[in-house]
Amino acid sequence: MLAQLVEYWLTPSTKAIRAMGYVPEVIGIRARYARCAAYWEEHLKRTREVILQGAARAQKRRKAVILGGGLFHDVPISELSQMFEKVVLVDIVHSFVSRWKTRRYPNVHRLTADITNTVEALYRVAHREDQPLPISEPTLLLDDPELDFTASVNLLSQLPCMPESYLKKQRAHSPEAIRAFSAQLIEAHLNYLSRLPGAVALITDIMRLKIDTLGRVVERRDLLYSHVLGKFGSEWDWRLAPIPEVDRNYHYFRRVVGIPDWK
Ligand SMILES: C[S@@+](CC[C@H](N)C(=O)[O-])C[C@H]1O[C@@H](n2cnc3c(N)ncnc32)[C@H](O)[C@@H]1O
Repeated sequence: MLAQLVEYWLTPSTKAIRAMGYVPEVIGIRARYARCAAYWEEHLKRTREVILQGAARAQKRRKAVILGGGLFHDVPISELSQMFEKVVLVDIVHSFVSRWKTRRYPNVHRLTADITNTVEALYRVAHREDQPLPISEPTLLLDDPELDFTASVNLLSQLPCMPESYLKKQRAHSPEAIRAFSAQLIEAHLNYLSRLPGAVALITDIMRLKIDTLGRVVERRDLLYSHVLGKFGSEWDWRLAPIPEVDRNYHYFRRVVGIPDWK
């Protein structure tokens, strides 16, 4: 607990990012990984495989970008750093411990960015019912002539999470407006992936599964706000929160899709 508190204070971020809870979220994901590593292993392995299948499609091997790669349990960092001249891990938060772990890869760089381009604007209007919610128009690296490969890694379904809970706490915007905002974040990210130069891979959870002690799925919740990916890929389950991680009676798993060639 003390270690997490120290890491919280050592992790750089803006006021908006802290207010929306991104820093404890990232530190919490790593703590959960430490508790559930054996359950996550299959998912992490399948994710790494899809990233490498996607990377093999790159025409050149100059720059590879991992979106959502601040923590990199699911990123084959050593292989990518050998394949490409430069690897860039993009995330809204790069925790102190994660930075420390990549220090031994000289061609692995970190870029702190909000991939949705909405978080700072959202923070300004979240408490103002007279102000509309921002529209996401991601632009990061769209004009980068050296970008040969991008993977969006277990990020898509996360894009609305922190903004949505922050907006709900502020109570200034209607549930319908919040839902429309979240759905647009998803749509904008998928359009953005289609417009990026180079090869593109997408790995994302698409559904939350609530499973009882007999292994029966008792509830499925769509995580993509009714967006259908409509592309081919493999599917597997991420055993994210086995009993008793968040509930003594139910496991909470995720159905994941891995698409090595999004475009
Ligand atoms: C579920 S984690 C991905 C799994 C993680 N790579 C691992 O190894 O466990 C989602 C990541 O997306 C990042 N993220 C969420 N919203 C973001 C945004 N708007 N822009 C950039 N990164 C974002 C989070 O900070 C987090 O690192």
